Amino acid sequence: MVAKTMDELVSLCKRRGFLFQSNDIYGGIKGLYDYGPMGVELKNNLKQAWWKSMVYERDDTEGLDASILSSPVVLRHSGHEDTFTDPLVDCKACKSRWRSDQLEDNKCPQCKSTDLTEPRPFNLMFKTAIGPVDDGSSFAYLRPETCQQIFTNFKNITDSTSRTVPFGIAQIGKSFRNEITPRNFIFRVREFEQMELEFFVEPGSDDKWHEYWINKRIEWWVNQGIKKENLKQIEVAKNELAHYSKRTVDINYLFPHGEEELEGVANRTDFDLGSHTKNQKDFKIDSEVMENNESTTKLAVQNLEEKKWYIPYVIEPSAGVDRGILALLNEAYKEESIDSDNKRILLSLKPHLSPIKAAVIPLKKNNEELVNLSKKIKSNLQKLGLGRVVLENSGNIGKNYRRHDEIGTPICLTVDFETLEDNSVTVRDRDTMKQERVSTDFLSDYFKSYFN
Ligand code: GAP
Repeated sequence: MVAKTMDELVSLCKRRGFLFQSNDIYGGIKGLYDYGPMGVELKNNLKQAWWKSMVYERDDTEGLDASILSSPVVLRHSGHEDTFTDPLVDCKACKSRWRSDQLEDNKCPQCKSTDLTEPRPFNLMFKTAIGPVDDGSSFAYLRPETCQQIFTNFKNITDSTSRTVPFGIAQIGKSFRNEITPRNFIFRVREFEQMELEFFVEPGSDDKWHEYWINKRIEWWVNQGIKKENLKQIEVAKNELAHYSKRTVDINYLFPHGEEELEGVANRTDFDLGSHTKNQKDFKIDSEVMENNESTTKLAVQNLEEKKWYIPYVIEPSAGVDRGILALLNEAYKEESIDSDNKRILLSLKPHLSPIKAAVIPLKKNNEELVNLSKKIKSNLQKLGLGRVVLENSGNIGKNYRRHDEIGTPICLTVDFETLEDNSVTVRDRDTMKQERVSTDFLSDYFKSYFN
């Protein structure tokens, strides 16, 4: 069973330190959230799982971490200055502002007035000044997607790694969009993270690679613990495609507020490298690109058999980290009856994603022998490098189990008086609540085999 409502998730996230409204103590800012002690671990684990599958486990990709501040020239040639807009309307009665394509019956959601302005395009990019003089002459955009710097670094990367198509460049990082109506918790926010792979292929092989990446990405989300039946592959209608896309398939997820996009997998054709390359006229560029007299670099590769230079096509799986977190929390959230009077909430996260891998709990907080032994066990398990292990020294086993069920800790290890005699600890499993005694001599192996 997934969470019943978004409110249940929001409440768990705040109570257990996953997510907080940003700038909370001053009233908060809409569309911004901070990841707390548990949230940052979950987020890092999700990003690490993506990086592992996209970079370490493949032989045809490289990684990148580019700057967030982006030159306006890049975002002019990418088409963002002209087309990265949403339709904005003002309510003349209550002065609120809305995205016209999200309004029901063309009514103001706040005061229900139908006296609205005509929709006008509102550019979603944030601008900031570069350098000490803020006279408007030198500005940058906060990138609205991570991929543009992958395209502008194309030659740096092919030159420094000798890669040739088909190959991909992966990047994880922040993106910023001045959403008119951020909503649904971390689903639509103004500052978020993306995990994007730009996979460069020879024209003609693009349809095949596109299909490959759609399947790969669905498989990956299932491996992170999302039930296949909660994921849908949606063909984006031709009239709704982004300006660069020949075909896009959205991977939708059944969020608590409804089914919406978790990740998009687009065939971006030769639009990106064709837009940013110099000497555009030397190439047969299939997509419609703006004339570029500013680029200093040829973004093309050579077909070694025909000795002809061409602009590669791009297949792009683009996933939102924050939407991934929301989907995973929703999938993992469970409420179970323990007996007729008691129930428990637990997060049944896959162990590799759990914020805390294990909690070591001394039975009595004031017993020096138990506490010291617990500290030693904690430190040994921490050294294995499989993620965060914590010492819980509050002395209340029941409370600790409850807390660790709610944050998704797969195992709790209790150190009691028997441990001092026979060197074994009680290992309690989060999902089954089953307990078994494991010798401290075998704990490292037990732990390694559990998480590998
Ligand atoms: N480079 C292609 C690109 O950016 P997109 O469909 O606009 O495509 C890709 O964004 C993914 O980024 C989305 O599937 C979503 O997961 C995430 N995303 C986009 N806007 C977002 C927002 N305002 N808040 C949270 N995540 C967002």
